[in-house]
Amino acid sequence: MEKIFLLITTIIFFACQHSTTQAAARPIMIQGAMGVETEEMIAALENPHEKIIHGRRFVSGTYKNVPVVISVTAIGPVNATVATVLGIENFKPAAIINQGTAGAHDPALHQFDMVIGEKSFHLDARVTEKEYPAIFSHTKLVGTYFCDSAKKTFESTIDYPADEKLLAVAREVLKDYKLGKVVEGKIATGQGWNRQAELINFFHEKFGSNCEEMETAAVAQVCKSFDVPFLGFRVISNSELHDETFDSNAPEFENFFSGEEQQKNSGINTSGICQKYALEIAVKAFQ
Ligand code: 5AD
Repeated sequence: MEKIFLLITTIIFFACQHSTTQAAARPIMIQGAMGVETEEMIAALENPHEKIIHGRRFVSGTYKNVPVVISVTAIGPVNATVATVLGIENFKPAAIINQGTAGAHDPALHQFDMVIGEKSFHLDARVTEKEYPAIFSHTKLVGTYFCDSAKKTFESTIDYPADEKLLAVAREVLKDYKLGKVVEGKIATGQGWNRQAELINFFHEKFGSNCEEMETAAVAQVCKSFDVPFLGFRVISNSELHDETFDSNAPEFENFFSGEEQQKNSGINTSGICQKYALEIAVKAFQ
């Protein structure tokens, strides 16, 4: 009898050990939409292992002994959504960080400033008055739907807040950032790229957005539905309000810019600096 008891306790002990080790080893997933937003992180990984799932690139490895998966989502909210669902299902990340470049909505922001996304929202989720003639300012944001896993219902929200713990970690890691300002604010996610100063000013004043890009709110919405802690943070790579154009030669950008504009700014690299901080946030978040 004693022997059986001992055997059962030993089995339970090792089963518990195994599950805690597995839980501890859940990676932090860091996403970027393009090569220029992910390559430096991938190059910094130890023991990199690449997996292509439905055309999406995931590279797992360790950075400072912390398990991370770098996910190249491709551009836009739909691709970011697909990559996030695939990433959660295949890698069971403990947290997801979405990072990369963004355009300023706030006139106080310039290239190399950082926006820690306390919240993000879908810039395209808007409703207007039914009216003629159309009055430009008669537009407001509407909620989008996430699945509340506890209630098993779809609930609507405009703002997707970041995980409090990840926010605190980002704040701590970025406190010594020297290349620009660091603000905590609102990231606006859309399907497009706004270059009209009037429209950008309107978004900033009416919706309180600090910057725009094309992935964060989509990932935040998926993470909220799947109960995965999430943080989005962005580096300002362009501001139409100050004639600071995008600073990359990324081939993905041929739809947005002329070769001349890309060349003008090819010497600076905001996306590189963002990746560096993303890795440090992952390390600290893991502890
Ligand atoms: N507007 C929209 N997307 C931007 N991006 C960088 N700056 C902007 C901007 N001003 C990012 C998006 C997308 C890619 C085209 O660049 O997040 O991944």
